Amino acid sequence: MKALLYLNSYFLKYKWSMLLGILITIAAKIFSLFTPKLIGNLVDVISRFLSSDRSDLVQFKTDLFLNISLLIGSALLAGVFTFFMRQTIINVSRYVEFDLKNEIYEQYQRLSLSFYKSNRTGDLMSRISEDVGKVRMYVGPAIMYTMNMVTLFIIAFINMYREAPSLTLYVIIPLPLLSLSIYYLSRQINSRSTEVQQHLSTLSAFTQEAFSGIAILKSFAIEPLSNREFQSLADTQRKKQLDLTKVQALFFPMMLLLIGFSNILVLYIGGRQYMDGTIKEFGTIVEFLVYVNMLTWPVATLGWVTSIVQEAEASQQRINDFLLIKPEIQNPSLDPFVVKGSIQFENVSFTYPDTNIKAINNLSFSLSAGETLAIIGKTGSGKSSILDLISRLYNPDSGTIYIDQQDISKVNLKDLRRQIGYVTQDAFLFSDSIKNNIRFGRLEASDEEIIESAKVADLHDNITSFSKGYDTLLGERGVTLSGGQKQRMSIARSIVKNPIMKY
Ligand SMILES: Nc1ncnc2c1ncn2[C@@H]1O[C@H](COP(=O)(O)OP(=O)(O)O)[C@@H](O)[C@H]1O
Ligand SMILES: [Mg+2]
Repeated sequence: MKALLYLNSYFLKYKWSMLLGILITIAAKIFSLFTPKLIGNLVDVISRFLSSDRSDLVQFKTDLFLNISLLIGSALLAGVFTFFMRQTIINVSRYVEFDLKNEIYEQYQRLSLSFYKSNRTGDLMSRISEDVGKVRMYVGPAIMYTMNMVTLFIIAFINMYREAPSLTLYVIIPLPLLSLSIYYLSRQINSRSTEVQQHLSTLSAFTQEAFSGIAILKSFAIEPLSNREFQSLADTQRKKQLDLTKVQALFFPMMLLLIGFSNILVLYIGGRQYMDGTIKEFGTIVEFLVYVNMLTWPVATLGWVTSIVQEAEASQQRINDFLLIKPEIQNPSLDPFVVKGSIQFENVSFTYPDTNIKAINNLSFSLSAGETLAIIGKTGSGKSSILDLISRLYNPDSGTIYIDQQDISKVNLKDLRRQIGYVTQDAFLFSDSIKNNIRFGRLEASDEEIIESAKVADLHDNITSFSKGYDTLLGERGVTLSGGQKQRMSIARSIVKNPIMKY
């Protein structure tokens, strides 16, 4: 349960709603627990009347009316409170889910590139969706059902014990059994449904890749291969799904079996005790039947809740693993840093940590402000890596990089990056308008500045030839830019960024 302690700050944040929810849960249970007692009373009223000389019809009707009204009244109140129980506790769990997602996303934004290299996108996604979802089950339903169970059990047990102590002990014997078997069943269901989920993401990753690469698939005429692979993936999916269905199908029969067993115990042992006089009123047996049926579901949920908590613990552990990572690249200073432009490399070496490829080996050069340097080399010789190091997307393993005689690992990182215009080889385009894709360079840029930068990047004429001009959508549901257009877009972004700082 250690990992789940992380959530305590959230419980503290929502403590009043949580407390209110718990009180409402208790109230809801108290009212619903009037039902067995009142039904027992009703049966007693009827059986007493039937075994009497049936003369006092008025009294009989009054008693009947009173008990039925109370029954309806308490059921209504129990219903109202049950409604608010969900409205409070489940709402809190949704707020916590929201907060946690934001916290994880912010952490993702902070973490350095090397983090993304060593973790798969699918894992990042599942932390923020599936794992948070499982944690929410702990914050909401698990706590709600536990409160439910505890209140119900305590009150029902006291009521039953006062009524018929030995019968009570007999009928609660099957309950732990029920709880235990539901626990094992839930674990099976959870582990199998995790497998279904995991395989489903493999399947969707495959499909997504096939769609994005459809042009390549078709031009190499390998659709049949793609079909076969999909079929085999889908086939595995079907098998896993059927495995899951098999255990799910056991859930209700098992519950019914154990409930039936408890009912028989009540009838058999209760009946005998009624005959030998241990139980005075026939209504007690009916009352017990209602109790037993009321108790089985919450007792079953105890097993279910235990497995929810275990899952949540594992999920929160995985989330914590990410949340507690310190970004490798930190901003060391908040002092403003204004760049004039001289760059100096001093014995810089750099190896990509994930691939162990040494991209830069003991590189030194020096460049004054205003000078231009062209670097020529074979593919993969480390040219782009130099630029990544200058904007501190990575830290060098050894050596120092200076800008204006200042070690860049010691200056304000935000200012440093703000003053670098970097035209990347492959421009990533977001699914948004052309205008907003260029504005990416500087969010507050005006439309005129955007057009101006597109003109400088020689992209303006291309854009105006689209019917929607600068509002043309790019990406998934929009226009696809050519390779050359993409690179110009990248240039336009850097121009609009205008990375010379003004103070
Ligand atoms: N993000 C990365 N992770 C791991 N290895 C990389 C990464 N980027 C580049 N490399 C490797 O580093 C070497 C230098 O790459 P790069 O600087 O992009 O070369 P160039 O730009 O000169 O073609 C290559 O062997 C490449 O495989
Ligand atoms: Mg390159």
